Amino acid sequence: MKSEIEEIKRVFIQDLSVAGSSADINNLRIKYLGKKGLLTLRLKSLSRIPPEERPIFGQLINDCKRFIEDEIEKRESLIRAEERQKRIAREYIDITLPGKYTVPGRLHPINKVMGEIIEIFTGIGFDVEMGPEVELDYYNFEALNIPKDHPARDMQDTFYISDEVLLRTHTSPVQVRVMEKKRPPLKFIAPGKVYRCDADISHTPMFHQVEGLMVDKDIAFSDLKGILEVFIHKLFSPDTPVRFRPSYFPFTEPSAEIDIGCILCSGSGCRVCKGTGWLEVLGAGMVNPRVFEMVGYDTETYTGFAFGMGVERLTMLKYSIEDIRMFFENDIRFLRQF
Ligand code: DAH
Repeated sequence: MKSEIEEIKRVFIQDLSVAGSSADINNLRIKYLGKKGLLTLRLKSLSRIPPEERPIFGQLINDCKRFIEDEIEKRESLIRAEERQKRIAREYIDITLPGKYTVPGRLHPINKVMGEIIEIFTGIGFDVEMGPEVELDYYNFEALNIPKDHPARDMQDTFYISDEVLLRTHTSPVQVRVMEKKRPPLKFIAPGKVYRCDADISHTPMFHQVEGLMVDKDIAFSDLKGILEVFIHKLFSPDTPVRFRPSYFPFTEPSAEIDIGCILCSGSGCRVCKGTGWLEVLGAGMVNPRVFEMVGYDTETYTGFAFGMGVERLTMLKYSIEDIRMFFENDIRFLRQF
């Protein structure tokens, strides 16, 4: 029995000398210490030797077992440390290398300001309505009190598709389309693209407008003033000066143009405000009863106001952009600034 145990120990030392991985260690554990391991079997066979010899052999087997356990443990922690080192070497990341940089996209300045305008108006209860860009002459002009021979048509250089079909020159036709479908009270804005045959430093053939319309009983000019002042103060800043100047539009009566104190010179007069200290930003007025008649609204019961603004112009003022064409040249150096 004694030599048997010494033999087990000898073979174990041999086995251990070639154990180089966690898997090898596991196998060793099974071979020597497992349920059917060499030492376990010896412990079980103790019952077959005379009782007086059992303590001695029991002691021998247990010493051998402890020895094997200790050696396995030592080797195991060595192997673990080695494997860890290898893994770290394999997974090494040089954090000083420059990363892969993806340029994040961003909103086009026009979309950005358009979004701000929509947010301000929806925030005070306005709905958002849409209309077609290819429009009928009727909605673009006639129903807005601009008959065929009206001189106001000269104000807008129209792209005609046929005699009766054109690219809308403003978003005002949406007023008529919505009023034809819905009864007052109405309170909405209509953002979108419009087209005019015109191109220079402040005009492009396509640009964006936001139309506004509010119709109900007892809508007064003071409501228009209040709402547009709130709008301008939110879009620019709360201390931006605002003034209303009498003007003319066929679809409103009375009509006004709204100026803000020049953003660039704060009113002292510069090139952008042409020395006046004021910048025109909106057209507006009380809805002309003739427009209401076109859609069958009772002009005794209802009044309303309308307004229209150019988004490019507002964006140019907000960010001091001097040439409208910058918006559409897609120069990344320009677009990145917003
Ligand atoms: N439609 C006008 C234009 O394109 C802008 C405008 C002025 C719209 C006055 C309105 C308004 O609704 O009341 O120049």
